[in-house]
Amino acid sequence: MADEPLILGIETSCDETGVGIVRGHTLLADALASSVEEHARFGGVVPEVASRAHLEAIVPTMRRALDTAGVTLADVDAIAVTAGPGLAGALLVGVAAAKGYALAAEKPVYGVNHLAAHVAVDTLEHGPLPEPAVALLVSGGHSSLLLVDNLATGVTPLGATIDDAAGEAFDKVARLLGLPFPGGPPIDREARNGAADAIAFPRGLTAPKDLAAHRFDFSFSGLKTAVARWVEARQRAGEPVPVPDVAASFQEAVCDVLTTKAIRACRDRGVETLVLGGGVAANSRLRALAEERAARYGIRVRVPRPKLCTDNGAMVAALGSHLVAAGVAPSRLDLPADSAMPLTTVSV
Ligand code: KG4
Ligand code: ZN
Repeated sequence: MADEPLILGIETSCDETGVGIVRGHTLLADALASSVEEHARFGGVVPEVASRAHLEAIVPTMRRALDTAGVTLADVDAIAVTAGPGLAGALLVGVAAAKGYALAAEKPVYGVNHLAAHVAVDTLEHGPLPEPAVALLVSGGHSSLLLVDNLATGVTPLGATIDDAAGEAFDKVARLLGLPFPGGPPIDREARNGAADAIAFPRGLTAPKDLAAHRFDFSFSGLKTAVARWVEARQRAGEPVPVPDVAASFQEAVCDVLTTKAIRACRDRGVETLVLGGGVAANSRLRALAEERAARYGIRVRVPRPKLCTDNGAMVAALGSHLVAAGVAPSRLDLPADSAMPLTTVSV
């Protein structure tokens, strides 16, 4: 609707430079520039390389978003930007750009939390989020379970990874299987031709003694090591490594733990909506298993389309739009980039 506010969102917390434009819950533009290929040979994101890439990409990406939406900066009602958590240098580029545009065009600016934005993006596809909801956010940089009581004012962390993020585990296992970076998509593809029960890989923090202290926490580093040992043993024996079976069995271990804990969180808290977000939420097995298990308890799963699961500017615009609609005050123009921004802070 034309009378809803027009919000522009800027995302630069990791390796994607994103500028999204939304009106209410309607997505008008989602421009993206990625430096992922520059990091591929290192097997992970190199912060300094990411910052430079953002610096080069931010202005053209901004222009592309405005052109696609058919609007000018003067038409925009507010600018939202990821203020954290993320890579310090990378965040700074987005925050500085947002301040510059806000000052030049005399627009309010909202410094927002990247994780809350991963939750908010689903509203662009499925409309307003029923609250409370449980959110499972899984990407290369984070793996968290949150209780979303009120997306505008605060979310409650229920658990998080105690070592590697889920996406990081996909990336590391892909590397040892000789698959390209980022590892999630090729593992997802290979797994389709493999057997998920071929190899019994460990499910971290699911034993009764671990559940007492880590009911909603995750651990993927033991799983990664178990895959490495298994592959090494095959290689030492001079036998070929069955990549599809390893990929499928590894993927099953990750998805089993993620869905079991997410659904347990919903049941414990009497919550009927589970939202998935972050790059790993693009995983086909995670989506299917979450749907299948949630259905048993009458829990509704909401997952945005894969392009909205990975980092983008639309998610930041979506959260900005939600904050504006909820009447939350904008940030001060001297808002800092905070690489360790706590989950409980939705906007600064
Ligand atoms: O949200 P995102 O784009 O950036 C971060 O904030 O990290 O997530 C990137 C992560 C990578 O680790 C990538 O391997 C993983 O998401 N990923 C996937 C899939 N697509 C991307 N993991 C599993 N299956 C996928 N289909
Ligand atoms: Zn992310």
